[in-house]
Amino acid sequence: MSSVKFYLPEEQVPLEMHKVRVVQKLHLLPVEERLEKLKEAGNNTFLLQNKDVFMDMLTDSGVNAMSDNQVAAMSIADDSYAGSETCNRLLDSIKEVFGTEHFLPAHQGRACENILAETFVKPGMFTLMNFHFTTTKAHITRMGGSVIELVRPEGLVPANDEPFKGNFDIPRLKQTIKDLGAKNIAFVRIEAGTNLIGGQPVSLENMLEVAKICKENGILSVLDASLLQDNLYFMKIREEQCKEMSIKKIMHKLGKAMDLIYFSSRKLGFARGGAIISNNEELILRMKEYIPLYEGFLTYGGMEVRSMEAMAVGLRETLDMEIISQGPLFTKYLVDELDAYGVPMVKPAGGLGAHVNAGEIVPHIPHGEYPAAALATAFYIAGGIRGMERGTLSEQRNPDGSEQHAEMELVRLALPRRVFTLSQVKYCADRVKWVYDNRHLIGGLRWEDEPKVLRFFFGRLQPIGDWQEKLAAKFREDFGDSL
Ligand code: F0G
Repeated sequence: MSSVKFYLPEEQVPLEMHKVRVVQKLHLLPVEERLEKLKEAGNNTFLLQNKDVFMDMLTDSGVNAMSDNQVAAMSIADDSYAGSETCNRLLDSIKEVFGTEHFLPAHQGRACENILAETFVKPGMFTLMNFHFTTTKAHITRMGGSVIELVRPEGLVPANDEPFKGNFDIPRLKQTIKDLGAKNIAFVRIEAGTNLIGGQPVSLENMLEVAKICKENGILSVLDASLLQDNLYFMKIREEQCKEMSIKKIMHKLGKAMDLIYFSSRKLGFARGGAIISNNEELILRMKEYIPLYEGFLTYGGMEVRSMEAMAVGLRETLDMEIISQGPLFTKYLVDELDAYGVPMVKPAGGLGAHVNAGEIVPHIPHGEYPAAALATAFYIAGGIRGMERGTLSEQRNPDGSEQHAEMELVRLALPRRVFTLSQVKYCADRVKWVYDNRHLIGGLRWEDEPKVLRFFFGRLQPIGDWQEKLAAKFREDFGDSL
C-alpha cells in the first residue's frame, strides 16, 4: 500500500484515497429536542429515527458508501428468476476472490446462520467459537445447541494491546474437543474480526491452526467472514507472513482451509445480502434445499439482483489495500484521540469502529442497570451521536431468567466506510471527551418493555432518576447556544 507522508509529521492524518460525489444533508437538533427524541425512542438507540441523528455510528451494516463502479454495475442487473447472468457474475467474483467453487445465496448474514444452525446443530450439541455474535448465538440456541467461547484471555482485556486479540486459545480448543468429544460438536466457528470484543482481528496463523485441528478431529470448520475486510488489513500490516502475500493469496488460503465460509455482504463487499461458500460440494448440497425454502430461488436467495451486482464488484474491491485501509485508519484516529485524552477504549484500535469501555467510565452503574446502554444515551444527548450498546443489554438472559452479565460493557461507535469526513470524526471525539468529563452525572436504565428474543433491538427503557435532564442542562451551561 502506498502511504502518503505529510511534510510536517505532527500534522499527519489519515488521507482519504477517494472523493465524494453524492451527499446527504444532516440535521443536528438542539439538546432539548435530543432529550425528547431519546424518550420517544425508549432510550434505545435502535429506535431513534435517522432524521434525528447527526452522526449515525450505530453500525457499518449496509450503510457503507458504495464505489462508482458498484453503482454502475447495479444498472446491468439481470432480473431473471432462473439462470440469471447476475448470479453467474457474482459466482465468478466469489471464485476469483476466495478461490471457492460453490455458493449458496442468502438475504443477509443471519440467514446464513439460520441455515447453518438448522443443518448442523442438533439439540444438546456444542458449537465452539472465539466469540459469539448475537444473531449467531440466537440461531444456535434456537436449535437446542449451545455456544462455548474460546478467545484468548487478552481478548477480554480492553487495555491489552496485543495485535490479534480475536485469536482462539489453541490449548483450550484442543482440551475442549477432548472433553466434549468431536461427535458432540456441531462446528467450530471462527469470527474474523471479532465483533463483540471490539472488532479485534484473528491472525492467519491462528485461523489455519484452528482449521487444521478441526480436520484432524473430523469437525467442521466455519469462517464467519462478515468482518474479514478489516481483518485482512490487520493481517497485512501486523502479521509477518502476510506482508509479502497479496490479499487474494490470503483469501485463497482461507478458502482452501475452511470447510465453510459465510458472510454478511452488508459488511463484506459494501453491498447487501449474504452467502455461504465452500469447495466441498457435499456440504453445500446438505444446505441447498433450505435456500428456496427460506430465502428464494438459488439464483438470488432473497437478495435484490442489483445488490448482487454491487456485491460482485465490492468483493473484488476488497482485494485493494487502498480501499480496505480507510475504515481501520479512521477508527485508529478516533481511538487514539480518545485514548490520549484518557477515555478508556478497547485497544489497539480494531475494525468496525471505536469501542468505548463503558465498564470503566461509569463503574458506578451495575451490569443490571446497563452501563453501556446508559452511556450510549449520553452520547446522543451530547452530540446527536448514535452508537450501539455492546454489553449486558445485548446478551440473552440465562434459561433461569437471570441476567447474563457481559464480559465487557462497551459502546460501539461504528465508522461506516467512506461516509464521514475527518472533521466529523473530530466532532465525535470532542463530544465523547465532554461526556467523559461529565461521567459522574450519568445514571442507569431500567426496563419499560423487555422483549424475550434479541431484546436490544426493540426493548424500551427509562432512565433511573433525572440524570439525563441534568446532563442536558450541563450541556447548555458548557456550550451556550451551540447545537
Ligand atoms: N456475523 C457477524 C460477525 C456480524 O457482525 C453480523 C452482523 C452478522 C454475522 C449478521 O449479519 O446483519 O447481515 O444478518 N453485524 C451487524 C452489526 C448487525 O451491526 O455489527 P447480518
